[in-house]
Amino acid sequence: MPPNAVSPSGFARIGKPVAAALLFALPAFGETPRRLASVESRIEDLLARMSVGEKIGQLCQVAYRDGKRPGLREGVSAGRWGTMIWDPVDPALRNRIQRLAVEGTPNHIPLAFCLDVIHGARTVFPIAPALAGTFDMELVEKVQRVAAQEASASGVNLVFAPMCDLALDPRWGRVAETCGEDPYLSACCVAAQVRGFQGENPSGLPVNRVAACLKHYVGYGASVGGRDYNDAEIGLWALRNMHLPQFRAGISAGALTVMSSFNTVDGVPSAANRFTLTDVLRGEWGFRGFVVSDWGGVGETITWGYAADYADAAALCLGAGNDIDMCSDAFPKGLPEAVRDGRVDARTLDEAVRRVLRVKFALGLFENPYVDETRNERELAKYARYLDFAAEVVAKSAVLLKNRRGILPLEDWSGCRTVALIGPAAVETRDFVGCWVHGGFGSCKRAVKLADELRRALPEGVELVVEKGCAVRSGPGTRVLTDGRVVADGTEAAKDEDASIARAVAAAQKADLVIMALTEASGWTGENGSRRSLGLTGRQQELFDRVAETKKPLVAVVGAGRPLTLPNVWDRADAVLWMWQPGSAAAKGIVRVLTGAAEPGGRLVMSFPHDVSQVPVNYNHPITGRPTRGNYREDGNGRRWGRVNDRFGFGYGLTYSTFAYRQPRIEGNEAVVDLVNTGRRPATETVQLYLRAPACAEGVRPIRELRGFKRVGLAPGEATTVRFSLTAETFAFTDRNGRLKASPGRYRLWLAPEASAGKELTYDWKGEDK
Ligand code: BGC
Repeated sequence: MPPNAVSPSGFARIGKPVAAALLFALPAFGETPRRLASVESRIEDLLARMSVGEKIGQLCQVAYRDGKRPGLREGVSAGRWGTMIWDPVDPALRNRIQRLAVEGTPNHIPLAFCLDVIHGARTVFPIAPALAGTFDMELVEKVQRVAAQEASASGVNLVFAPMCDLALDPRWGRVAETCGEDPYLSACCVAAQVRGFQGENPSGLPVNRVAACLKHYVGYGASVGGRDYNDAEIGLWALRNMHLPQFRAGISAGALTVMSSFNTVDGVPSAANRFTLTDVLRGEWGFRGFVVSDWGGVGETITWGYAADYADAAALCLGAGNDIDMCSDAFPKGLPEAVRDGRVDARTLDEAVRRVLRVKFALGLFENPYVDETRNERELAKYARYLDFAAEVVAKSAVLLKNRRGILPLEDWSGCRTVALIGPAAVETRDFVGCWVHGGFGSCKRAVKLADELRRALPEGVELVVEKGCAVRSGPGTRVLTDGRVVADGTEAAKDEDASIARAVAAAQKADLVIMALTEASGWTGENGSRRSLGLTGRQQELFDRVAETKKPLVAVVGAGRPLTLPNVWDRADAVLWMWQPGSAAAKGIVRVLTGAAEPGGRLVMSFPHDVSQVPVNYNHPITGRPTRGNYREDGNGRRWGRVNDRFGFGYGLTYSTFAYRQPRIEGNEAVVDLVNTGRRPATETVQLYLRAPACAEGVRPIRELRGFKRVGLAPGEATTVRFSLTAETFAFTDRNGRLKASPGRYRLWLAPEASAGKELTYDWKGEDK
């Protein structure tokens, strides 16, 4: 092994192949038939004893919030709700509430407690695009396992995750919760998260696991114009091949529950869409758990102008296959009427209740309704260890977009006496922590400032000067112009910020190296966080431009929840480290990468446009009938044969080393390439397999689509051969009737470090695996 090599044990070698089978396997609920039969008979026994009122109660979800809702406790004792959104995250209080249900209701049916644990509970991990961008599914699984341990210890039984929506439009704030724009990678990532939350046996979860909820079913990622809660026009072909595969993979991995989405598809609100909820989810995929609406989604079918009133909304949604109403009044107030007048028949009602009870049995709630209150303390004791793991995930998901003359990592400090750390994220932690955190866990308060972490890491004799420069938010003292630029508004508040920016510039002038820490305001990302411009918030762009004028060596660390369009940063910084909101270990992970204690391991899972006017720019679009024409004139029209003109593409990300892809070739039924670490550092390359299908008369397939990936760790000078098997699963697509197919023919293949690279190979697939 060369002298600098990292030992294989401490270093990812060739990762396990990711089975395309994840996309296509059969649904789970895989317990012994005996236990299943006994659960089913217990469900029937309960059903026979439940009143209609009690059954309706199982289909209504309430939010605890601050517990001040009038009649909340009485309602629990009366069995008015079957599930509760649980944000106080206090196990003792949760046990008291549970006791009301277990002891008060006629059939002693426990509540299930639910919460949005999206990218961590107490330990906040990087958001989903970061996790997906590690291309390391074992890591993703482990992340959600930690989240499940912490969440379950606080009394949570079910988490509203993973999100399976595709990220097609960066204006949509919720791209921050997705696994990116590619259905294959998303499917792998969704399945890994389900395994992390639930473990291997979905029909009998241990106490330290939680039920997963696949959301938002379906098509939310295609919301028109990137506007939240909106209409989505999706044809059957795109629905089948872009929006459904991730959900199918989640069901195959055993997900116990599904959440219907806020949007409409083809004029039908998702909570009332019989085709997706019943024909596809149950009919085609065999799903046997429950579907919960999104918050207020059942009642909103009235606001959409689809249902006439509560009873109508209840009948339409329950009839379509949406079993639980999350927090609207439609089921509590309208379902009794709809049952009375026969719009909902007894069979439909019973079937929905059966699904809810089945999930409660799988969660072990009938045997173990209460949570062991000492577990929370024990989990807390593991926090330091979890945080260290979170820092590892931060590093593995950091995407190095640029590294001029190898300025990173910062290892050679000769000639550097002063470092200026400039920008709001140097001293503020909130926006790095991310868009889904719960106050109850106190995670934001625990996060460490980047300035403090960096100070600890600098060698003796190197001074750190810290200047915030400006606020993250476009608040007092600023004005947002119609094109999205933020300027000073001439008030007193603006003058304070002018002075602060001037101090930052002066600090940069005196420094030998400048590190800028910039973030998008986290409140402008996530739910209801749509934007029509993709720049920095507050006066951060002005701050950057003025600091860049000093012409000092400049490293930019940018944290955001969506792709941003920052041409000046891309051009003028010497290095750019892209951080999808990295969570509560942000500072530790970032400093490890900056100083070379860890390598940046992330790849982009969403393509970045040059400018917001180009969106969408997802890489996996059709080739069109005129690949050399039709592009925007400003983009050189047909220069990039058939491809959209992105700034940074899907799969892109540098390492601290360099890799050569030698002799890509087909050997038998394998796509093969020799990979060499040609640089001077050990590093991990993410080798990606893309294909373009032959003519397909079912519908046109993308110009390229990801169908495999492997992470390969190599020491400097080391070489290895990377192989991908080519099987029916590699080539499969879903036909309009939901059947998986793979057509024989000549496929184009690429083994590449990103979606736009690689030498084209061809492979004649005969229609049968060898
Ligand atoms: C969001 C869901 C979330 C739910 C419960 C909704 O507003 O769209 O993603 O799970 O609230 O908090």
